[in-house]
Amino acid sequence: MVKIAILGFGTVGSGVYEIIKNNAVNISKKAGQEIEIKYILDIRDFSSHPESHLFTNDFTKILKDDEVGVVVETMGGLHPAYEFTKSSLEAGKNAVTSNKELVATYGPELLEIAYDNNVNYLFEASVGGGIPIIRPIHQCLAANNIKRITGILNGTTNYILTQMFREGKSFDDALSDAQEKGYAERNPAADVEGFDACRKIAILSSLASGRQVDYNKIPTEGITKVTLEDVKAAGSMGYSIKLIGYADINENSEVFARVSPMAVPNYHMLASVEDVFNAIMVRGDSVSDVMFYGKGAGKLPTASAVVADVIDSVKHLQKSKRIMWNDTDPDNMISRHCIEGSFIVRTLKDTDTVLSVMPDAVVRTGDNEQNTEETVFITPVGLEDDIEALVNEVGGIISRIRILPE
Ligand code: HSE
Repeated sequence: MVKIAILGFGTVGSGVYEIIKNNAVNISKKAGQEIEIKYILDIRDFSSHPESHLFTNDFTKILKDDEVGVVVETMGGLHPAYEFTKSSLEAGKNAVTSNKELVATYGPELLEIAYDNNVNYLFEASVGGGIPIIRPIHQCLAANNIKRITGILNGTTNYILTQMFREGKSFDDALSDAQEKGYAERNPAADVEGFDACRKIAILSSLASGRQVDYNKIPTEGITKVTLEDVKAAGSMGYSIKLIGYADINENSEVFARVSPMAVPNYHMLASVEDVFNAIMVRGDSVSDVMFYGKGAGKLPTASAVVADVIDSVKHLQKSKRIMWNDTDPDNMISRHCIEGSFIVRTLKDTDTVLSVMPDAVVRTGDNEQNTEETVFITPVGLEDDIEALVNEVGGIISRIRILPE
């Protein structure tokens, strides 16, 4: 039998408890031995919980207990999650987490400590909630050089965008809904400003490139400035707007990553991903494009990925799976100034002005015309800096939405 400790009894931690209790027989069968929850660490009062005896607020008790083979960190935040994870690994305990901030920040160090101590640090739930994506990149696609990752990586913002533009809900109502359903981060800015998606694309591109991608260097823009009019304008040109985490990886393992609202052509599979669903498209040099789709947030979907990692840890006790990427390298990021792109633009200037500056622009015409005050056009593809300069030359800009690169 392996005993485990759950650190943090919030949305995900309580989901882990529920799944382990409800699916105990199946889980034990898959793990090859019984898994029992010995401790739940939380500073809040759970004296009325049916298993109140499991709760403690003393991490040292867990650390010193040699019976605990796996520590499940579902606390979130950097501290004390970092210290607890580090000391657990150093004490020869496996650690499993859903904490993307911790993995994105301290991933290389914690993975190395795990390796040195012959244990595992597993983090499937840190990206895409219940969707398998870490293991597929690390394991199933291991034969490939990963060239590109494109994903809808945040359930809350996808839910908000869907509710606003399909159901006509206000931004605030849609956000409250997402909070009630347990999708949103404690600080909703982490979702709506794109920081959560930024941590996730940093993890995926670090894993895929083998070099730590510093999330502080990823240009990140959230959804707060996207309006219904932008969505309608994009729609009239055959596009849907999604918050996209995007990374290109070149042959030298250098990465260009970005998080921003992007116009996705309606024929693209990502365009039909709605509500809390996430989808991640991975392009490998041998396999070409593969897509992973499922619930990207929420108690049980996320906990299902955590529990799968617990099972994997139990199957690999004292056997490191050697998931690694190198520590921060200041030269591994491709500058945004080298990137090509195109935009859907709304301007108060007329078609003639647009075409006089950008003869190759595609201007919305005829039946699609919805607002005679404005002109909507698609820029040609070029160096983003050059295209931005041309857009500014047109002037009268209401908004511009980047188009998902082909
Ligand atoms: N707040 C996150 C989301 C939770 O909405 O996707 C899962 O990381």
